[in-house]
Amino acid sequence: MLDTLDFIYQEFKNLAKEIKDEKHLDEIRIRFLGKNGLITNEAKKIATILPEYKKEFGARVNQIKNEIQSNIQEIKENLEEAIFDEKLKKESIDVTLPGRSFGRGKIHPISHTINLIKDIFYSMGFEHVDGYDIENEWNNFTALNIPEDHPARQMHDTFYIENSSNNVEELDNEKKLSLLRTHTSTVQIRHMLKNKPPLKIFSIGKVYRSDHDATHTPMFHQLECLVVDEKSNVVDLRGYLEIFLKLFFNSEQIPMRFRTSYFPFTEPSFEVDIKCDRSKKGEIKIGVGDDWLEILGCGIVNKKVLENVSIDSTKYQGFAFGVGIERLAMLKYNISDLRNFFDGDIRWLNHYGF
Ligand code: PHE
Repeated sequence: MLDTLDFIYQEFKNLAKEIKDEKHLDEIRIRFLGKNGLITNEAKKIATILPEYKKEFGARVNQIKNEIQSNIQEIKENLEEAIFDEKLKKESIDVTLPGRSFGRGKIHPISHTINLIKDIFYSMGFEHVDGYDIENEWNNFTALNIPEDHPARQMHDTFYIENSSNNVEELDNEKKLSLLRTHTSTVQIRHMLKNKPPLKIFSIGKVYRSDHDATHTPMFHQLECLVVDEKSNVVDLRGYLEIFLKLFFNSEQIPMRFRTSYFPFTEPSFEVDIKCDRSKKGEIKIGVGDDWLEILGCGIVNKKVLENVSIDSTKYQGFAFGVGIERLAMLKYNISDLRNFFDGDIRWLNHYGF
């Protein structure tokens, strides 16, 4: 019987040499120490053998069992270590390689300009109001005193949209969504329809005109400003414009002149020019020099517009102005081609972005 035990132990030792992985090790463990394992079965015999052999045989069984157990434990640790070493070898990192750089985004000059303009208008106590890119003819034209057949409708090179609304009967034709707004003045109308004076708002957004050349893109951005109360007049308009332009161009003084002009929604209407220096080729300096540069349109809100939105034009008056954001950004940051703003060229953005 003791020979059998030695034989079993010898067999274990032979097999143990061949163990390659943990699965194999487990198979061996079960073969020797499992419920029906070779050693377990030997141990079961202890109860049945003659008392005089019991002690020696029992001790030997236990001894071999312990040996095998500790051998298995040792093999297990060795295997784990080998796996770890292998992992270290495979996953080794070359610390001399250059680091992976994180691409850092830049803020587009238009977004940057919009943020700057917002800050300035908030500081002057204006409320920011948003509108919609898709508009109806009434908000874009009629309410702003641009009746059908008025040449100004053609001037705007409007993108019209085929109407898909099912609720055609509910709305008269003009109020159906049917075009991409050609200017942000639509926001004035929406706001005045819902709110009573005093009003002091500004709006910034995309506008669309079917036009594409070096100085026009089919989509661009406008800033719109509207003040309606009982007394605001051209002097206030000029004052606010002066503060805005000084803060925007970061300049001590911005000499400007008002030229009479025409917009259907303002009366009187003005085109505003600011002083600039164009003597150096490819560069415009704002606020100095002998040249004039047209920068925006403005005027006193036409009484008809107030009446169109049910505001009492005998009691209330006000002013409005509209500016192209791209134009402001080009002047402030010396950007020469308008189309570059929307080309999506990352090199351009890296240069002009913030
Ligand atoms: N809406 C005008 C345009 O886009 C600009 C403007 C706004 C002029 C407000 C006067 C007053 O041409």
